Amino acid sequence: MDCQAAFNLNMSEYVQINQKVFFAAAERNKDVIAEQLRPILNNAQLVLEVGSGSGQHVYHLSKDLPDVIFQPTEYSVSLLPSIDAYAEDLIKEGHYILPALELDATNPEHWQRVLTAAATATSTESSEVGKEPQQALYDLVMTTNVFHISPWIVSESIIRGAGQVLKSGGYLVIYGPFRRNGSFNTESNREFDATLRGRDSSWGVRDLEEVEKVAKEEAGLTLERVVDVPSNNYMVFFRKL
Ligand SMILES: C[S@@+](CC[C@H](N)C(=O)[O-])C[C@H]1O[C@@H](n2cnc3c(N)ncnc32)[C@H](O)[C@@H]1O
Repeated sequence: MDCQAAFNLNMSEYVQINQKVFFAAAERNKDVIAEQLRPILNNAQLVLEVGSGSGQHVYHLSKDLPDVIFQPTEYSVSLLPSIDAYAEDLIKEGHYILPALELDATNPEHWQRVLTAAATATSTESSEVGKEPQQALYDLVMTTNVFHISPWIVSESIIRGAGQVLKSGGYLVIYGPFRRNGSFNTESNREFDATLRGRDSSWGVRDLEEVEKVAKEEAGLTLERVVDVPSNNYMVFFRKL
């Protein structure tokens, strides 16, 4: 199932005007995400978004940060034009958003492309012209409403991928609902989980402890903090030490 269909489950409707897709859910959570990411973004050079969806989040974050390089990605190739259409409005004003890349988190070659794109974008030295770009590493990998609307292998792969592409001190930030110590934080999230699993048995609200285990044991990422955000969601901050 693609992203639009996923949103139609219960998160809200989506609208498309020309190339630009509009997710009401992204519109609702964009400010809280920006607020929580702001201290990291203020010191960031390179940001990767996994599952950029419509492109609304990258657009919103880049608006105030023209010098930060954003690399949007998306699993559904049908959404790449929407992400690029949002970006184009800011690129015209000198903002730095790279062309959206297809990223299936379970495909190691796609992660390599993400690294190569970043290295190419940051290698301005004339001496490097004609040489293979060196590896550039990201300050932040962010992902919103992806872990519960994709198979568990996708969550594991995003965590491992982040461990690979983040620089030391960089962050992986995950937005969405989670179970903690086996419990849902609300009855509505329990029902949401049942709806998701009914639609696709490989989906579902993840256990934060499981996520933390993979992050620590397989990606060298340490859980730094968990922030409660509106609509019974969390923002989970992992750091590569
Ligand atoms: C509900 S949409 C969220 C879109 C966007 N982040 C937002 O919040 O508006 C779910 C996302 O899961 C992502 N996804 C599903 N399978 C994936 C995979 N194998 N690799 C990477 N992302 C995947 C899709 O890219 C899609 O954007």
